[in-house]
Amino acid sequence: MTSGAYNPFKPAPSKTALQKIFPWTEAPLVASAPMRLISLAPLAVEVSKAGGLGFIGSGNDQSNLEETLKHALKLSVEAKLPIVGSKGETFLPIGVGFLNWGADLEYTLTLLKQYRPVAVWFFAPRSTEGLVEWTTKVRETTFGITKIWIQIGSVKEAVEVVKGCKPDALVVQGADAGGHGLNNGAGLISLLPEVIDTLETLVETRNIEQLPTIIAAGGIADGRGVAASLALGAEGVVMGTRYLAANEAQLSPGYRNEVLRASDGGQTTVRSSVYDTLRGTTEWPKEYGGRGVVNKSYHDSLSGMSLEENKKLYDEAVGKGDEGWGESGRLTTYAGTCVGLVKKVQGAGETTKEVRLEADAVLRRLKG
Ligand SMILES: Cc1cc2nc3c(=O)[nH]c(=O)nc-3n(C[C@H](O)[C@H](O)[C@H](O)COP(=O)(O)O)c2cc1C
Repeated sequence: MTSGAYNPFKPAPSKTALQKIFPWTEAPLVASAPMRLISLAPLAVEVSKAGGLGFIGSGNDQSNLEETLKHALKLSVEAKLPIVGSKGETFLPIGVGFLNWGADLEYTLTLLKQYRPVAVWFFAPRSTEGLVEWTTKVRETTFGITKIWIQIGSVKEAVEVVKGCKPDALVVQGADAGGHGLNNGAGLISLLPEVIDTLETLVETRNIEQLPTIIAAGGIADGRGVAASLALGAEGVVMGTRYLAANEAQLSPGYRNEVLRASDGGQTTVRSSVYDTLRGTTEWPKEYGGRGVVNKSYHDSLSGMSLEENKKLYDEAVGKGDEGWGESGRLTTYAGTCVGLVKKVQGAGETTKEVRLEADAVLRRLKG
């Protein structure tokens, strides 16, 4: 891992664009998704320590964000991550993810000013205009030091976001992704190249100045997925589901066991609003559903059980703790179609390095 002063304005030579911006990272960049309530400081910092970029999931509620950032700062200092800038200023070598439909912009700005994370991640705004405001104010407040990553799930969204916000990185989320995503989506293998081709045409016709850095998300769980994403045109990847099995992920053993058990995710996971409805997270814009492992709540909802009855049974399952998960359980296991590739629990840093090395090996093999 590289060390030394971090200057976001001064690129290091002979590295890919991402390594110029985040000099402690290694190519290909592996980032961890900002999973609300699950990706907290320990997970994010371990990923960055391993040469990746870890994101905290702040979601739509910033009430614990300051505490989490403080914790991340402490862990980063202990790990001697390169967080000191050329003028002695400090940067947090992690990102923070927001669900823009509910997140609090003004409070966020005060924390960004104070803690200086190297990136923010925006997702699921109520409108592109709202995102433009977030982007402009974050850039003004952090003088462009905090890079803007925006996750999109369609070509239309990509065009709107790139024209309106000029993000530093565009996270292209394919339909396989775990957790929330557009109800009408395409897999990365078709979505990602079409996004790139469309944006390149916009550059040629001078509708946009340049392509943002392209990051792939959705269904990537090991080095093969990383290599495939690079072949499609991405410069880095994000994994969510794979990190659910990280020691540092903040989740119940029942949830983790269900991630390790489930396989054949095209059949055993579904994108739906049923889980949101039962959990009471119903403020999501209507275009989004959450992908999770199919369970009894979902089957009962399909067979016409009333919401009232289903919710009552869900609440009873909450009281059962870890037993409430599983195929015949009712608690939600948000996870993507790659869930069948997640078979071992280990440190997030180990996963980050392993996946990167696997990708290198795949790419070398392909070159013969
Ligand atoms: C359990 C879980 C929670 C998630 N929570 C968030 C979130 O709070 N904010 C966000 O932008 N994305 C969230 N996502 C989606 C990720 O950003 C990303 O698109 C996804 O994990 C990539 O697909 P994968 O799960 O197949 O790796 C979540 C994903 C999972 C699996």
